[in-house]
Amino acid sequence: MGPGLRLALIARLLFSLLMLFPLVGSGSEQQELDMEYGEEINETCAGCHGVFGQGSIEGEYPRIAGLDAAYIAKQLKDFKERKRINIPMIPFANERELPGDDVRIISEYLASIQLPTKLQPIDEENFDALERLHASKRVVNIKNIPGDKELGRKVYEDECSTCHAKDGYGSKKKRAPMLAGQYSEYLWRQIKNYRSGERLHDDDPDDAEIFNEISDAEFDGMLAYLATLDDD
Ligand code: HEC
Ligand code: HEC
Repeated sequence: MGPGLRLALIARLLFSLLMLFPLVGSGSEQQELDMEYGEEINETCAGCHGVFGQGSIEGEYPRIAGLDAAYIAKQLKDFKERKRINIPMIPFANERELPGDDVRIISEYLASIQLPTKLQPIDEENFDALERLHASKRVVNIKNIPGDKELGRKVYEDECSTCHAKDGYGSKKKRAPMLAGQYSEYLWRQIKNYRSGERLHDDDPDDAEIFNEISDAEFDGMLAYLATLDDD
């Protein structure tokens, strides 16, 4: 390779690097803007789901933070198309209030919020009461409920864990959401909706039968078992 050619190669390399870096820069800037905008959209959601998407302890409002972004986006799309009925969200989940791009941004924003399952031990030297209060709001640990956990574990592992994962935290590949870390009362309501056919499980009308074949006692046990999976 002659010196001329080598210089030309180096020049081309430098040029590509210069072209690359501004792109990387604007990419993360865009991400930051999306996150800021996500925070803004979330102000609407927070009225019901809480500032951190933590939901309500009694499960009237599910936790939406930390769910997979694609799953959140799919639910929002289903709400908008009324494939999944959610009356309280009708004023929010429509094309005017939540166009497609907003769906993507709020889904990514919520997916990125991590909710710890326990409060950190108190740091006596740097104790800040307000910070502590904020931190405690983010903690979600599903309370243990009565039910035959051993029976529930068995049914869960036989019938559900192939998609929702053995640890209960779901599978991106199977598009199945986390059931561990979600409120039991909310999950029971979904099970009833699947049984009645009001909501389609895995987009498959035949799944209603599976949910009807599993008894109330088995589901009680399963929810009791799932509630323990976020304990350590
Ligand atoms: C007026 C109250 C209210 C507001 C505001 C609201 N939601 Fe909801 N949302 C609900 C209720 C109630 C449910 C549970 C419905 C059910 O039981 O099927 C729900 C369910 C959901 C779910 C399904 C969770 C799951 O695990 O499948 C998602 C996702 C969601 N909301 C996202 C949002 C987003 C994003 C916003 C803001 C743009 C929002 N919600 C605003 C009341 C609300
Ligand atoms: C073949 C894979 C598969 C199996 C097996 C499966 N699920 Fe699911 N499940 C899904 C998918 C996919 C979704 C998301 C559905 C949607 O998009 O609305 C889902 C959603 C759910 C939800 C809604 C969660 C929420 O946040 O609203 C519940 C509850 C649920 N499944 C319970 C079960 C139970 C209980 C079993 C076992 C009896 C089970 N699933 C077995 C794939 C599966």
